[in-house]
Amino acid sequence: PVLVVDFGAQYAQLIARRVREANVYSEIVPHTASVADLLAKDPAAIILSGGPSSVYAAGAPFVDPALFEAGVPVLGICYGFQAMAAALGGTVAQTGQREYGGTAVAVTSAGTVLSGSPDAQTVWMSHGDAVHAAPEGFEVLATSAGSPVAAFEDRARRLYGVQWHPEVKHSPLGQKALENFLYQGAGLSPDWNAGNVVAEQVDKIRAQVGDARVICGLSGGVDSSVAAALVQKAVGSQLTCVFVDHGLLRSGEAEQVEKDFVAATGVQLKVVDARERFLHALAGHTDPETKRKIIGREFIRVFEQAAREVVAEAGEGEEVKFLVQGTLYPDVVESGGGEGAANIKSHHNVGGLPDDLQFDLVEPLRTLFKDEVRAVGLELGVPEGIVWRQPFPGPGLGIRIIGEVTAERLDILRAADVIAREELTRAGLDRDIWQCPVVLLADVRSVGVQGDGRTYGHPVVLRPVSSEDAMTADWTRLPYDVLATISTRITNEVPEVNRVVLDVTSKPPGTIEWE
Ligand code: XMP
Repeated sequence: PVLVVDFGAQYAQLIARRVREANVYSEIVPHTASVADLLAKDPAAIILSGGPSSVYAAGAPFVDPALFEAGVPVLGICYGFQAMAAALGGTVAQTGQREYGGTAVAVTSAGTVLSGSPDAQTVWMSHGDAVHAAPEGFEVLATSAGSPVAAFEDRARRLYGVQWHPEVKHSPLGQKALENFLYQGAGLSPDWNAGNVVAEQVDKIRAQVGDARVICGLSGGVDSSVAAALVQKAVGSQLTCVFVDHGLLRSGEAEQVEKDFVAATGVQLKVVDARERFLHALAGHTDPETKRKIIGREFIRVFEQAAREVVAEAGEGEEVKFLVQGTLYPDVVESGGGEGAANIKSHHNVGGLPDDLQFDLVEPLRTLFKDEVRAVGLELGVPEGIVWRQPFPGPGLGIRIIGEVTAERLDILRAADVIAREELTRAGLDRDIWQCPVVLLADVRSVGVQGDGRTYGHPVVLRPVSSEDAMTADWTRLPYDVLATISTRITNEVPEVNRVVLDVTSKPPGTIEWE
């Protein structure tokens, strides 16, 4: 792999993604890994990421000069560039001129990394210190007002560095620079893709699982669906998927999993109809946290029961040994990036799985980012309707009804929600928005007029958001005509709703969901 050494900012994940976008496999490693640790992974190349420290600050992460003697091509970015310069005898100092944001650099020699670049370009900078003198053997490739040495390389030793952030979209030629490093600097071929992932994971799953029985909680979301499809391809007859219909699903979801997913993948599916049970448990409760806890608790019970039934149905003596989980790479990295099960974030997720069940985990998506999971899903023939689904919370519509959850209210919300989804799809906006919850203010009523009469109905809220990772979000500026169509259709077609309002709050301060 290409190893991305994480110097402690959010940049490492982005770099790893960009490398994969260049069709080269990459992994993130912490900066505390020793040179021996790094070399043990047999890296094809190493990228040192940016980070928040100053090379000269006490306790700043440090690069062992031995790394540069291993013959592995290295690219330093921002802090990684400065750390590389410092380790090899260059000088790094404060210029008194910080550079933040779009910055002009003059390319004095294109070299390898900047080959094909114009003489002047705008790049994204974010630094206080700068490299003043390149180490011996390095050629200076670019300068900027605040960076006497803004890029350098030593072609003989295959060591490269740039002060700016090629991984961000604000550096328009950044991806080109990364590709120059990977293809020309490190001599790698762009041959990593979703097809390889499938083949590789299928082998891995077979090796891990042997002939044991495997169970998978299927929520209908992208991650659990793609994980299930991979395991199905690997050890199909040993796998049973359990889909819990808690009655808090949107219109068409249970059918999509029952029909489309099974048809596309051939999985053995156990559907548990637990709608009554959840409604009963939720009756009388209005507090959001209480509702979430009830839903989580009931889900675990239903799932455990289903797992026991799967064991019983499988015949005497057979035990379910493995549980498939759709853990993604960002979860792994955020929890410390280790290989072992101990590092798994206990992401208690109603759509996913209880963490107090005693199974060994099968996590075929552990090394993948969301967009890669989608590509793998398409490769496996998972229906597009599932692959491109926007995130939907495990507690489902239960946390989108403000007030008590009842069967009638669920029907009202489902009717409004399906209209909003249809119109967003019709307008071609599905991939532009992160998600668009529709929320029913079940305890609020307002006066309206329809036909010749007065109405006294409920409002629904549209909550379209744009986001990269759901940690922060902004409200999406949907076209007015799309909003108008959604509003007209909902108020015409859902008799209990006489008002449609738009949530124009970013996150923070609002969260995406209302509860
Ligand atoms: P919030 O409301 O916290 O939501 O801004 C962030 C993202 O997480 C989803 N979400 C959940 N997903 N189980 C899930 O699987 C949950 O309990 C849950 N709560 C919120 C939400 O839809 C958004 O994408």
